[in-house]
Amino acid sequence: MIENDLLLRALRGESVERPPVWMMRQAGRYLPDFMKLKEKYDFFTRCRTPELATEITVMPIRQVGPDAAILFSDILVVPQAMGIHIEMQPGKGPVVPQPINTPEKVEQVIVPDVQEELDYVYQAIKLTKQELNGEVPLIGFAGSPWTILCYLVQGHGSKTFDKAKKFCFMEPIAAHRLLQKITDTTIAYLKEKVKAGVDAVQLFDSWGGLLEPKDYQEFSWKYMQQIINALKNEVPVIAYGKGCWFALKQMSQSGAAALGVDWTCEARNARYLSGGNITLQGNFDPARLYSKPIEIRHMVHQMINEFGKDRYIANLGHGILPDIPVDNARAFVDAVKEYRS
Ligand code: CP3
Repeated sequence: MIENDLLLRALRGESVERPPVWMMRQAGRYLPDFMKLKEKYDFFTRCRTPELATEITVMPIRQVGPDAAILFSDILVVPQAMGIHIEMQPGKGPVVPQPINTPEKVEQVIVPDVQEELDYVYQAIKLTKQELNGEVPLIGFAGSPWTILCYLVQGHGSKTFDKAKKFCFMEPIAAHRLLQKITDTTIAYLKEKVKAGVDAVQLFDSWGGLLEPKDYQEFSWKYMQQIINALKNEVPVIAYGKGCWFALKQMSQSGAAALGVDWTCEARNARYLSGGNITLQGNFDPARLYSKPIEIRHMVHQMINEFGKDRYIANLGHGILPDIPVDNARAFVDAVKEYRS
């Protein structure tokens, strides 16, 4: 049993005393103790060593106090398991030295045995569940197939992912074959994560908003929907799309338990577009955590008033930034915890 089940209740749409709170990318990134580990072990070593992944996952729970933990890992462990070489270069982010940018290269990508290739993730989940000892729920995650394709084709991070779009529009058949391979792998992977013990899963479509609405349907949403269909009866699914407010109506009919929104969509628009009944998650501007704690508190209370305390999960609109002072992150979490309607 889980002691603090606010998140799970909000995902079921039940009425709660106050909304649950967690922060996207809360594991790692900004905590001083994480920075120390970062000096000692490279990124994928941290992901692949269950003891380290557990330590980093639990760190924000002990030091900042959100209502849910998110497993320390990365969306790119999935394409790694598909046989693609990916490096994490300090200061640069993910690099794919041989981008998947021709139909021939797509054909070489494998749909792996996820039980074997990603066993280290399930071991990390089991160890983290032991360590959390039922205190708060554990969220597992995966990238959306489109967001993963962006890195595989472009070869590195980008503001526009122009090469990824070019590939989709010039070689649509190959692009869809790649998206389907990522989707099949992701479904099997998330099912194993559920077996290992995660209490909810989030799909990160960080780059969905780069596509125009019709292309979004074709290259992103179609595959998100397949994943939701495969998982929704086993675990609550949170579908997060950055810049994807235009798709909220369709997303609300998908079987997802909650939808993540970013700060460019006002609460009442998000409620309107999503039909008013589904749980929403978001949407504090991560850069607003640079404000003074007293201002953060005020803005958070306003945000909850606008979304309403029920069917709502307080969160940022995207990941926390690496140089946010810990006290400001704490002010965000505490502001939600002290909220009374
Ligand atoms: O809450 C958490 O931090 C849990 C673990 C987590 C990481 N990545 C660890 C990480 C999660 C949920 C992610 C998701 C992820 N990874 C996304 C989707 C969310 C988003 O932020 O849009 C994306 C696009 C990636 C790909 C990725 N991984 C990038 C672009 C980078 C480099 C830039 C950065 O710092 O975000 C990474 C590296 C990465 N993943 C780090 C961490 C803690 C930082 C590098 C390091 O610690 O060495």
